[in-house]
Amino acid sequence: MDKLLIEGGHRLQGEAEMSGAKNAALPILCAALLTREPLTLTNVPQLNDIGTMLKLLAQMGVAVQRDGSVVTLDASGLDNPLAPYEMVKTMRASILVLGPLVARCGEAKVSLPGGCAIGARPVDQHIKGLTAMGADIAVEHGYVVARTSRLRGARLFTDMVTVTGTENLMMAAVLADGETVIENAAREPEVVDLANCLVAMGARISGAGSDVIRIQGVERLHGATHRIMPDRIETGTYLCAAAATGGEIRLTGTSAAYLDAVVDKLMDAGCDIRTEKSPSFEAIVLRAPQRLKAVSIRTAPYPAFPTDMQAQFMAINALAEGTSIIRETIFENRFMHAVELARLGADIRIDGNTAVVQGVAQLDGATVMATDLRASAGLIIAGLVARGETVIERIYHLDRGYERIEQKLTALGATVRRLS
Ligand code: EPZ
Repeated sequence: MDKLLIEGGHRLQGEAEMSGAKNAALPILCAALLTREPLTLTNVPQLNDIGTMLKLLAQMGVAVQRDGSVVTLDASGLDNPLAPYEMVKTMRASILVLGPLVARCGEAKVSLPGGCAIGARPVDQHIKGLTAMGADIAVEHGYVVARTSRLRGARLFTDMVTVTGTENLMMAAVLADGETVIENAAREPEVVDLANCLVAMGARISGAGSDVIRIQGVERLHGATHRIMPDRIETGTYLCAAAATGGEIRLTGTSAAYLDAVVDKLMDAGCDIRTEKSPSFEAIVLRAPQRLKAVSIRTAPYPAFPTDMQAQFMAINALAEGTSIIRETIFENRFMHAVELARLGADIRIDGNTAVVQGVAQLDGATVMATDLRASAGLIIAGLVARGETVIERIYHLDRGYERIEQKLTALGATVRRLS
């Protein structure tokens, strides 16, 4: 298993280009299932999770062409609406094929994703919504088995805000008979990016980005070309890495538009952040203080502080001046990076979904273990500022969501090496 060796103590300086958003690309790849015509996507990040999704679609009969960050999908030959356990267990987002398959084929057999390190991750809201739209759904032998003659529009209400639940139900609704209203919908920018792609394909959707999304079902969708939005979590991660090292960086190919909560907290911590905007271009520039001030955070659905940035902020708070409180309200077990940060010398006390972080003057390199994608990012940030060498094990988590991270960090002045 690959490891990452980081030599701490280097300020990050210079420029890095951000990639397309993993959590926009994954549902949008599944949207290709909704039409017999080709869907061409640009700015698709080159990540393991994307590769896994393309393999899953290909074994269903979707023709996949990929040239770097351009992907063309043709689902005219779709003949196997099955997502097998062997593939779904490696990537929970596979559940996003469920809605499109039921809408397009009238049937689907999708393995339950199962839990992961950060929580049980149930999909009951996905099932509840599809059932309300007229699908007959059974959960048997670890699979969601769905069938319907044709989905019908319905008024849906999710018990909690669910990102992929909203995306699955929106994709199911675009071909349903009549109007669907999704209340308590997720407002994440990736939901909006998916809606924009579906509208380009001929769907009739209004309200994406708000908590009420209306979809008028249509007979069929046509092909389209769509550019994936920038990855706001990758962007926030590099901003935190620069902030932790007292650095000064410029991130291109991205936007601060979807990161208000994160940018506000970084400014509270003492960073100077500004955006450069032109008709064809946007960049974010961050200049960090010598030492950050501790900032408390509470994760919640967009536009509040994103749970996917919680581990990164625990890392920068570990070294900041003062005490911070971190509340994780989305997932029940998303503090596993805390014990690993403690191995580097961080002073963190966990009490249920609350972490109290006492900033220390110095962290010391050690061997630590990544447990999930964003925890890995938090450990990298800590390794960049710890004295001496830090080795991060199980970095396959990292490769799922950060494109060419060693290259980008090295270009910014870090000393990072992959050990096989
Ligand atoms: C999406 O996961 C993201 N993944 C996650 O990013 C992100 O952390 C999460 O949203 C929250 O923002 C993708 O978009 C592919 P949820 P998702 O459904 O949709 C509970 C990363 O690092 N819930 O919004 O699976 C659930 O257990 C990943 O890129 C139910 O109980 O998250 C959680 O507590 C990690 N029943 C809460 O709701 C359901 O049917 C929010 O989950 C659905 C969700």
